[in-house]
Amino acid sequence: MAHEPIAVYPGSFDPIHMGHMAIIQRASLLFPRLVVAILDNTGKDTLFTPLERVDMMREIVADNEAVEVRRFTGLLVNLMRQIDATIIIRGMRAVSDFEYEFQMALMNRRLYPDVETVFLTAEEEYTYLSSRLVKEVAALGGDVSGLVPETVRVRLEHRLGRS
Ligand SMILES: Nc1ncnc2c1ncn2[C@@H]1O[C@H](COP(=O)(O)OP(=O)(O)OP(=O)(O)O)[C@@H](O)[C@H]1O
Ligand SMILES: [Mg+2]
Repeated sequence: MAHEPIAVYPGSFDPIHMGHMAIIQRASLLFPRLVVAILDNTGKDTLFTPLERVDMMREIVADNEAVEVRRFTGLLVNLMRQIDATIIIRGMRAVSDFEYEFQMALMNRRLYPDVETVFLTAEEEYTYLSSRLVKEVAALGGDVSGLVPETVRVRLEHRLGRS
């Protein structure tokens, strides 16, 4: 291999939760450079703006030198070509994730044959965790501490008008 492969971990991260954190931590041990790519597709309803999601993520991964945070629009493979990345990291929670992830992996390889998708299994304790569920619970006044980084919990409360 000419050089160490660059890995990309794409997602909406609206907001980041502990399931994402575990994947970032583990992927950054496998790959010397990990780019967390925050999807900014206009038209998708998000609680946090792309800039807010990038800011939060940067703050949270600041002490991990292997990790870089970027925002992207459009096709993931276009970003990958641009930054010379060949590995896509995805988290796999359950069978429910499988079909969509499998389709995406095959499509991405068709669009960019050099790409390899690497699936990391979710942490057992976070298998049920998703951004959607975090937002739902927080909006209903439930306690999400321990499920998201503290800075995210605080920002969720502000956004939802609870403090
Ligand atoms: N609890 C989790 N454990 C491991 N991987 C996860 C977990 N939640 C999400 N992922 C993975 O993180 C990547 C980015 O996912 P995404 O931004 O859609 O998060 P999400 O929690 O699924 O949010 P949403 O509920 O909005 O779909 C995907 O590969 C997804 O499978
Ligand atoms: Mg998802």
